[in-house]
Amino acid sequence: MIIEARGLSRVFPDGTRGLDRLELSLGEPGFTLLSGRNGSGKSLFIRHILGLERPDEGGIYIDGVALERCLSLARSRIALLFQEPEHQILGITVREDAEFGPRAAGLKPKAYTALVDDALRSAGLAGMDNRLSSALSGGEKRRLALASVLVGKPELIILDEPFNDLDWQGASDLLAALLRLRKDGIAILIVTHDLEKCLAHADRLIVMEQGRVLRDASPAALWDELPALGLRRPRGGPSLLSGMTWLKAGQQAAP
Ligand SMILES: Nc1ncnc2c1ncn2[C@@H]1O[C@H](COP(=O)(O)OP(=O)(O)OP(=O)(O)O)[C@@H](O)[C@H]1O
Ligand SMILES: [Mg+2]
Repeated sequence: MIIEARGLSRVFPDGTRGLDRLELSLGEPGFTLLSGRNGSGKSLFIRHILGLERPDEGGIYIDGVALERCLSLARSRIALLFQEPEHQILGITVREDAEFGPRAAGLKPKAYTALVDDALRSAGLAGMDNRLSSALSGGEKRRLALASVLVGKPELIILDEPFNDLDWQGASDLLAALLRLRKDGIAILIVTHDLEKCLAHADRLIVMEQGRVLRDASPAALWDELPALGLRRPRGGPSLLSGMTWLKAGQQAAP
């Protein structure tokens, strides 16, 4: 699937230019990071991808088709995890939450039971079916939101600041779940300025500034420039990008 932003512009009534003729192509398999300073347009852009916001000019095209003409199909192929997982949790228990989508679509349990089992396992929630969703930790809630979108078999999962307020274990579990999904061929787009946790795994780093793409290259190619782009480099030097991952480093450092 190819998602293209063509000349995407969005100006707010107060004159703020949220997106400024943005040109970008996304959707290839792998791990992509979308980064940039606060207010650079990251969240606004991903809301446009799902048709949750309308541009003033330009548009989003999915495999060459204008988003307005394929919106429901696009929403089934692309999943968005909001920054606050609570907004996406609808079921009383973990299992009920993961089953919410297929039940709302009127499917019979035998059509979705195996799918829900798989999704809970992929998100690292196997065996937690009967836990109360409201009583989960922040990291577990985020993984439940992930399980619930996995049931819909998306081709691309977009996560907006998924590591916010997660502790080391929570972030590490979520990252491990995302890496397993990437191995299964699902494209992952992480929107974050917290490069520490995921840069080592990224195939591509896109940096936005003032509603446009400032850089779009491999993390290694952008390593030297990161501070000048307003991004903090992960500790460990460029060798971090070739093998010694944050996950492995974290595991070694853990008590
Ligand atoms: N509804 C709105 N009304 C006015 N301005 C808005 C609105 N939504 C977004 N903006 C502006 O558009 C710009 C881009 O916002 P956006 O939320 O996409 O930034 P971001 O890159 O996600 O930042 P952060 O890293 O802080 O999450 C900002 O200047 C923001 O103030
Ligand atoms: Mg944002």
